[in-house]
Amino acid sequence: MQSARARLLAVVDAYRCDHIGGTIILVLPSNIRIAPALPFLGRMSDESSVPVDGEEAAPFLSNLDFFILSLMAGMAVYWFFFKNKQKEQPTFKKLSVAPLSRSASYDPSFINKMKNSNRNVVVFYGSQTGTGEEFAGRLAKDCAGYGMKGMVADPEECEMEDLSRLTEIDNGLAIFCMATYGEGDPTDNAQEFYEWLQTGDVELNGVKFAVFGLGNKTYEHFNAMGKYVDKRLEELGAERVFEVGSGDDDGNIEEDFVTWREKFWPAVCEHFGVEATGDQVNVRQYTLTEHDDLPAEKVFRGEIARLRSFDNQRPPYDAKNPYLAAVKVNRELHKGGDRSCMHIEFDISGSKIRYEAGDHVAVYPMNDPDSVKAIGKRLGVDLDKIITLTNVDEEASKKHPFPNPCSYRTALLHYMDITSCPRTHILRELAEYAEDEKDKEFLLKLTSATPEGKSLYNEWIIKSHRTILHILEDLPSIAAPIDHICELLPRLQARYYSISSSPKQDPTSIHITAVLVEYETKTNRTIKGVATNWLALMKPAENGAVHRVPIYVRKSQFRLPFKTALPVIMIGPGTGLAPFRGFLQERHYLKTEGKPVGDTILYFGCRKSAEDYIYEDELAEYMKNQTLTKLHLAFSRDQEKKVYVQHLLNQNKEETWKLLEAGGHLYVCGDARNMARDVHDTLMNIIQECGGLDSSRAADYIKKLQNKGRYSCDVWS
Ligand SMILES: Cc1cc2nc3c(=O)[nH]c(=O)nc-3n(C[C@H](O)[C@H](O)[C@H](O)COP(=O)(O)OP(=O)(O)OC[C@H]3O[C@@H](n4cnc5c(N)ncnc54)[C@H](O)[C@@H]3O)c2cc1C
Ligand SMILES: NC(=O)c1ccc[n+]([C@@H]2O[C@H](COP(=O)([O-])OP(=O)(O)OC[C@H]3O[C@@H](n4cnc5c(N)ncnc54)[C@H](OP(=O)(O)O)[C@@H]3O)[C@@H](O)[C@H]2O)c1
Ligand SMILES: Cc1cc2nc3c(=O)[nH]c(=O)nc-3n(C[C@H](O)[C@H](O)[C@H](O)COP(=O)(O)O)c2cc1C
Repeated sequence: MQSARARLLAVVDAYRCDHIGGTIILVLPSNIRIAPALPFLGRMSDESSVPVDGEEAAPFLSNLDFFILSLMAGMAVYWFFFKNKQKEQPTFKKLSVAPLSRSASYDPSFINKMKNSNRNVVVFYGSQTGTGEEFAGRLAKDCAGYGMKGMVADPEECEMEDLSRLTEIDNGLAIFCMATYGEGDPTDNAQEFYEWLQTGDVELNGVKFAVFGLGNKTYEHFNAMGKYVDKRLEELGAERVFEVGSGDDDGNIEEDFVTWREKFWPAVCEHFGVEATGDQVNVRQYTLTEHDDLPAEKVFRGEIARLRSFDNQRPPYDAKNPYLAAVKVNRELHKGGDRSCMHIEFDISGSKIRYEAGDHVAVYPMNDPDSVKAIGKRLGVDLDKIITLTNVDEEASKKHPFPNPCSYRTALLHYMDITSCPRTHILRELAEYAEDEKDKEFLLKLTSATPEGKSLYNEWIIKSHRTILHILEDLPSIAAPIDHICELLPRLQARYYSISSSPKQDPTSIHITAVLVEYETKTNRTIKGVATNWLALMKPAENGAVHRVPIYVRKSQFRLPFKTALPVIMIGPGTGLAPFRGFLQERHYLKTEGKPVGDTILYFGCRKSAEDYIYEDELAEYMKNQTLTKLHLAFSRDQEKKVYVQHLLNQNKEETWKLLEAGGHLYVCGDARNMARDVHDTLMNIIQECGGLDSSRAADYIKKLQNKGRYSCDVWS
């Protein structure tokens, strides 16, 4: 029997249900959202969002159910009668902050926009961290070289129903750059488009399309979204102009994209009977304005969206309005060795931020000031100059590449990604500024789509991890204007951390467990991870000085079972232990409250027990007070032969199988590249061996566990 909440979720199955700070916002079709809704449901915030088998028996409809259903019926009537009226009103955005750059002439019909500006190619992107958006921009720019005119569009800001009207435009073409996340899910901005595609209530006959998917092979559902969009558009009657591309971020996604694009454009030419015009595609997208007398309060200083938002903090806090959390604790977890792992506690008291064990916290980091100074010095610029960059394309939804006016220093410290490897289009533009012909030739060779060019790019840029600063240092004749570099570099992204605490133990702080990233490159340079090295400096000072970090909480599906008596198996080597520390705090709290708590089994692994066995004392205490039923430890380097968590899991196969059959939940956290896969394979073997199933039935068994939220992964690479 499902809980009241599970039944509520089942009723609203067709709708998306966003949980924000313990309230639930029902998202109705046609972009009509009623918010904030059902605040009385705040009491449910400590429950699993995934209904599970074997939950406690309850009367079919409780008083609460009647209340919920009446309220929903009321809302349905309200929606029905007022829907037209509501359509004229601005919709509520999911993160409750409207996009910064929406112009007054905002028109959700991309077809109208295309017609008004004589464009025939629209490039949509489903992107979380900007790569898909960047590829979309490059494809739109390419159009000029084929006598076409392109436009980039965010599906979240468009009426995607208009896709069927693309046939009204001569040589109309829709390109989709779609990234995949989670369990083969779309990005946030493609969620509604994905749901719309699934409903299938549309005919796209005659619509021409192509898809480039962005993914990472280390994840189980490699490029699921790109593949889905490609297949689904065809099913709906649209005509594929070129085969779907598959970018693999674990390899060299730039090369995958360049290789796909190289064949894509000739296919477009053939399909539409157009020819490459060779028109210049290196055109500036933004115009520069320099300011001499702007008052300081009009100048951005690192805020993510709203000017002065760091001085004047106002909840709710989210991706566009992060909370400046004070660092309460920052201590070393490693006891030896040459690596560092930090336990950090952010103070969220008074912020109204709510979180659950298993959620992620996003941190907006700052680049290393010395690297920023070095870029300024190399380019000979005054970093304190205040500037604005404005899009030359008046139809573009993005008016500025980052919040401005701001100084170049602010742009390079807070807004630009100055440490990742520049992509080929950036190098091509830098080539224009190389004063030495040899440097220019070299840069152009690096960016050429020939096998030689690709291999050179791979060696000289990717494998040597050359950043923009390294390129400027190694090719001293490049005299690029800094404003052009600011236009070209991608945005600095927030870093996610699995929260390693439970609000049940401490609702006023969020803990993270972060390993310091630092490594040497082939050019003998030391690369320091942006966020972790910045966080490493944030030590609460004895004189009371407080460091503050912009953060926001991102809800996840990684949740303990609602029914506390169910057993759980948690597998988290290294920093993969992070969310399980939160789970243990939660289970311990429930025990002390007298709730029935099922078996709690942890598999942890690290290199050496004397060096990187993090939270050793806490785990020992949990064993002592029986919050932990069993603790399996794999110290990989304490003996000659490596011992990993999956080896121990395999040794305990009978126990694992028994717990799974008893309705247990299994969790994996940490490295996606190798560990999560190996654990998955081990689990397959256990299910086959102990359950007597063949491999296809074992795979089905695992699929079912996943669908029921009983096998969850929180992994990254
Ligand atoms: C959902 C999620 C949860 C996460 N949870 C945690 C967590 O709980 N704890 C945690 O520590 N991290 C976690 N991470 C990773 C975290 O978000 C950051 O990626 C990590 O802290 C590095 O950030 P940084 O800015 O310091 O490094 P960056 O400046 O981003 O540099 C990291 C990049 O450097 C490269 N790199 C790193 N090491 C090497 C190497 N040895 N050789 C070559 N290249 C290398 C990789 O390309 C890597 O992406 C999580 C990530 C996700 C997506
Ligand atoms: N994006 C980033 O910048 C970033 C930052 C931090 C971590 N990560 C990822 O997160 C992972 C965890 O990092 P960490 O520093 O916390 O852990 P870690 O200390 O590198 O590894 C933890 C333990 O896992 C073991 N291990 C290695 N390969 C395994 C496998 N295939 N299956 C099971 N166990 C395995 C290690 O053994 P051995 O080392 O002895 O083989 C070690 O004992 C890293 O592997 C990395 O991929 C990424
Ligand atoms: C937390 C996380 C989950 C991911 N899940 C998947 C996945 O399930 N399948 C996949 O193919 N790629 C996955 N990826 C890889 C991304 O799709 C890939 O890095 C892509 O280039 C991101 O594009 P974007 O920058 O436009 O968001 C994941 C990446 C992260 C950080």
